[in-house]
Parts: sequence; C-alpha cells; structure tokens
Amino acid sequence: MTPLNKLTTTLKQTGLIKFLSHFAEQFSDIMLKDLSMGSIGEDRKVDFLGKTVTNFGSDSFLGLDQDERVKDALRNGIERWGSHNGASRAFSSVETNVLAEEKLAEWLGIEAVLIYPSVTLANVGAIPGLVGKQDIIVLDQHCHNSIQEGAKIAKANGSQVLFFEHCDPCSLAKVLQSAGKYRHALVAIDGIYSMSGVIPPLKELNKVCMDNNAILYVDDAHATGVVGTKGRGTVLDAVGNYENILLVGSLSKGFSCLGGFIGCTQEMKSLLKWKSNTFIFGGPVGPPYLDAICTVCDILSSGEYELIIGRLKRNLNILVQGLRSQGLQVLGGATPIVSVVVGDEEQTLKAGHILFQKGFYVQSVIFPAVPYHGGVLRIQVNANHRPDSVKDLVNAFKELQKEIEFPTAGLKNAA
Ligand SMILES: Cc1ncc(COP(=O)(O)O)c(C=O)c1O
Repeated sequence: MTPLNKLTTTLKQTGLIKFLSHFAEQFSDIMLKDLSMGSIGEDRKVDFLGKTVTNFGSDSFLGLDQDERVKDALRNGIERWGSHNGASRAFSSVETNVLAEEKLAEWLGIEAVLIYPSVTLANVGAIPGLVGKQDIIVLDQHCHNSIQEGAKIAKANGSQVLFFEHCDPCSLAKVLQSAGKYRHALVAIDGIYSMSGVIPPLKELNKVCMDNNAILYVDDAHATGVVGTKGRGTVLDAVGNYENILLVGSLSKGFSCLGGFIGCTQEMKSLLKWKSNTFIFGGPVGPPYLDAICTVCDILSSGEYELIIGRLKRNLNILVQGLRSQGLQVLGGATPIVSVVVGDEEQTLKAGHILFQKGFYVQSVIFPAVPYHGGVLRIQVNANHRPDSVKDLVNAFKELQKEIEFPTAGLKNAA
C-alpha cells in the first residue's frame, strides 16, 4: 500500500466522509448531487441527465448570464485580449481591470474597489492580511465558510478568533467587551445568510463596532446586484455610509460574471494589494470577464435596472405568497433565495427528487450545510423565470405535500 493509498483510507474513515457516503449510498436513487448540465436553454430550462427541467438553482438572479450585451462583451473581450493575460496583478493588470474597479466603485458610491478572482479568495486573502498578533477577529457563528477559513489562517498567524451569536448585537457587544485588551477588532458577518435569507441588523452591529473599537467586515455576496438601492447591497441603505465598513461583494452571482471584490478607501485598497496573499500569489479574473463586469455595471447604473429588479420581485412575490398560503414554513423572501423547511434528511432529498421528476430543479440542502435535521429545499428565483413557471412550481408544492410531510410551525434547527 502506498502512502497515498493509506491517506485515501484514512480520509474515508473521517466522520464527515462516513456520514456523507452513508447518505450517498442509502439514498443513491434520490440524491441529486454532483449533477452536470448538458445544456441551458430558453426560460431557464436546463438539461440534466437527459431530462429537461426548469432551473430554480441559479444564483444568476438577474438573468444577465443570458443577456446579449453581456455575451457580446465576453466575445469582444476574447477578440481584444485573448482568453487570459496570465499574470498576477502584483506585476501587471489589463486596463479593463482598472476600469471595472472604477465603475464598481462609482456604482456602489464607495471610494475604491479591489477585484479578486472570487469572494472566497477575497476573504481568505484579506482577512489574515488585515490583522496581527495584537488583534482579534469576531465572527457571526453562521458566517460563510470562506470567512471562517480566512480567520483560521489569521489564528495560525497569532490573532485571536472569537464567535458571537447569530445576528445578535448584544452578544457581539459582550464578546468584544470580554475579549481583553486588543489593538484592532475585525467583526466579520454575511450581508445575507444564504441558507436562510436572513439579513442581519447591520446598523446595530455597526454601532456596537463603533462603540468598541471594531471594524465591520460584511460579505454581501448574495446581495450584490439584487438588494438595496440600485442593487448596491444591504450595507449602504442600512448604515448610511461605509465609514467603518469593509464591503465584500460578488461578481459571480447577481452579476453573472466572475470574481469578488472589496470596497474600501483608496488607501486601504493600496494596502490590501500588498497584504492579501491570494491577490499577490494568484492570477486575476480573465480580461473578457472584466469587460463583461463593466457592461453589467452600466446596466445596473441605468434606468433599466428597475425593470429587471421589478421582474425579479414579481417572481419572488408569486413564489413566497404561493408557498406561504399553503402553510409551508418559508425562510427568506426579502431576497431571491427562498428556503422551504423540510427537516429530516431523507425527506428533504426525497422532496427534491419528486420536484425534479415533476420538471423543477431546486436544491435539497442537508447537514452539514445546515444543522442536522434542519434540511431545506432551497429555491433561487431569477428575473428571467417566466411567471407561469414560478406558478407551476408553487402548484407542484401542493402535489408534493401529498407525499412529503412538511413542518408547519417553528423548527428551531433550520439555520
Ligand atoms: C457569503 C458568501 N461568501 C462567499 C461565497 C463564495 O463566493 P465565490 O464563489 O465567489 O468564492 C458565497 C457563495 O455562495 C457566499 O454566499
């Protein structure tokens, strides 16, 4: 047996892998994981395993992935730049990278923006770069995995890492006040919690930060382009300014492009370029995608945005009202991610599979992505879903309830 074989055996014996393979084996016929799409067509129809279904599992909330202007920008970008310029930005950038950052900053109403190849790489690069041994990081207990991974690197470098209770400003205040002496504190949260659609009390959390010498770091990935005035996310409307905030956003979800960014002051941007290892030691977003980001910025900054977001809100309304009127326990609804609580893991997988058979793809989310026995059906509504498709999905839930027992009152486990 080679050392690599031995490692494979060890990994197969870890608790998480055993748990997941138990589910994969036991429910192999209903486990819709690791699917690959054969094609994407009109009206959000996709082909999975040779079966055509309406896709309610896309974060491309505004439907801009299918917009001809965005596709043209990519095509023209390839003509202009080729597929990739192939250099870390620590050495050189294409002009369109600078332009995309300027356009993003203008749209957001923030001084400067630094683009990373993904939100994960922004979090894993910037968080350890921002703090040192005399500093602390305080995380919402449910914050995104990539924030937690960034905090682990910071911890290995000597920073203290603490947690506060989900979305609770009082808990944050207690943690900060009992942390002992620190030089700086970085409080990191999500702007929207994507498994539940919960938006945190940003104004109150920022006040606790200001009162306790802490900076608020908000990963607003799921809100970028779809929440708030002009789609600028959760922060500005709630807090009124970015004075004490580092704003993280996504270019891969509502933007339908690729990448992540941090919005900050010009001075902080220069520092982040030198302090984020993922920025220095990794490659950039490919130039054609940067051209597409510029195009999406223009769309979001124009009057057309209200039309697109209007279509998204209309669809969201049909879905949420329709599901709630059936007595289902629906989480979220203020954002395009809507989760219907099922609870039991097998029932959650089965429910997703039945909907698939009926022609709808939604994501069956089970532990460890949500707490044990807190399974949900996660539905992503897009602006370019036809209203009739959303109505059909709502009706499919009526049928589904004949086969699956849904909880109707508070199920504490669902995150
Ligand atoms: C809050 C949050 N941060 C980061 C990410 C990861 O983003 P990316 O795919 O750009 O790495 C996600 C993805 O869903 C997210 O919800």
